Amino acid sequence: MPDAKQNTTAEKTFTFTNDQTGEKWTFPVVEGTLGPDTVDIRTFYEDTNMFTLDPSFTSTASCKSRITFIDGDKGILLHRGYNIKELAEKSNFMEVAYLLLYGDLPNREQYEDFRKNITYHTMVHEQLQFFFRGFRRDAHPMAIMCGVVGALASFYHDSLDISDPRQREISAHRLIAKLPTLAAMAYKYSVGQPFVYPRNDLTFAENFLHMCFAVPAEPYKVSPILADAMDKILILHADHEQNASTSTVRLAGSSQANPFACIAAGIASLWGPAHGGANQAVLEMLEEIGSKDRVPEFIQGVKDKKYRLMGFGHRVYKNFDPRATVMKESCDKVLAELGVADPLLEIAMELEKIALSDPYFVERKLYPNVDFYSGIILKAMGFPVSMFTVLFAVSRTVGWVSQWKEMMEEPSNRIGRPRQLYCGAKDRDYTPVEKR
Ligand code: CMC
Repeated sequence: MPDAKQNTTAEKTFTFTNDQTGEKWTFPVVEGTLGPDTVDIRTFYEDTNMFTLDPSFTSTASCKSRITFIDGDKGILLHRGYNIKELAEKSNFMEVAYLLLYGDLPNREQYEDFRKNITYHTMVHEQLQFFFRGFRRDAHPMAIMCGVVGALASFYHDSLDISDPRQREISAHRLIAKLPTLAAMAYKYSVGQPFVYPRNDLTFAENFLHMCFAVPAEPYKVSPILADAMDKILILHADHEQNASTSTVRLAGSSQANPFACIAAGIASLWGPAHGGANQAVLEMLEEIGSKDRVPEFIQGVKDKKYRLMGFGHRVYKNFDPRATVMKESCDKVLAELGVADPLLEIAMELEKIALSDPYFVERKLYPNVDFYSGIILKAMGFPVSMFTVLFAVSRTVGWVSQWKEMMEEPSNRIGRPRQLYCGAKDRDYTPVEKR
């Protein structure tokens, strides 16, 4: 990126004019490979003595990235240039993880090496299980994940030097490999069953299902239908550009915090119902509606702004969420193949039908997002609702570590430090308590 200078020599520029004084400041316009151009305003404050105000980042590119591209108007999502639909149909989660982390699809040898590296790290330190005992059995598994993922930093001192690319890579592999183990442990703890060790002869998705649903008392065979659906869910959630949790990871990482702490911060940010917590909120909403005939009343409540239609709307997608399209296909397939007739699906379909034709939703460009269908599949697989966001975290860890790695490799990386528009009290004299 060229340096922004008042008298720039950049080919494309953008000029701001102060309407009061007539002063003008010109900034370089930087072009990416896809998507809107950006005005490089890094010297804006220095040049103009003003800040720009964009509290929820609607118009701000916080970084340069080569990992994921979204065209929200056209409903396009690309990872390293590959379309998400094609990846979900033809690839697998391990391959997508390699792609996000290293930039290209692996050849056979690279794939095998990567798979071995990840499976090598699937076990967690035996001491970590005692952390779980400190939590209540009814603790939300996301609360447990925030704690135990951050705690990984206390076990892996040998990969905490963030200035060493090899240590960064080992930490990235450890995080991708250990998240499913920790997530399964959180589930097992909540149902009072013994933890199940990982099995490295299984695929990533199979191993995860095995760790969640196997019990020592009898053999467990992973259903290929469920393993396939789980793999798709993992692919569809793997990365999504500079969303709230990814930006959290980047901001935490910009202070040179260790990667385990950064991913724990990402998990905390993901938990909210406006972000990854939406998959849990969708199921709770469907259960609360209870039956198809109560859908119109619920829709009216949404229009009256009493509540939001969870699983609908997106900051970036204003046409459709391409992940939701694949997820819906997968949902239909899983329910049909498992022979599950979930009444909640009927409610979901009715909500979708009304919302897609009602002017309130059409005018606001509100469409089903990835979370609208994922919960129905996860429920059919046997996961409790509290685990839905944890599954999102397992998958998104790949995106988080890829984005963190990219940021750490960027020579111009500096601590992220937003400024503010201060609207508080001006100078006040201290009043002693007896005079207040
Ligand atoms: N239900 C009803 N109205 C909505 C919804 C919704 N789900 N989402 C947005 N709106 C309305 C909102 O009330 C506002 O209307 P008005 O102009 O009359 O004030 C307008 O649409 C714009 O809303 P906004 O809050 O400014 O939009 P945003 O871009 O800040 O929010 C969002 C994006 C995803 C947080 C929001 O759409 C939402 O809360 N959706 C439900 C939660 C959800 O499903 N989240 C998962 C997102 S996809 C997975 C992920 O990335 O984590």
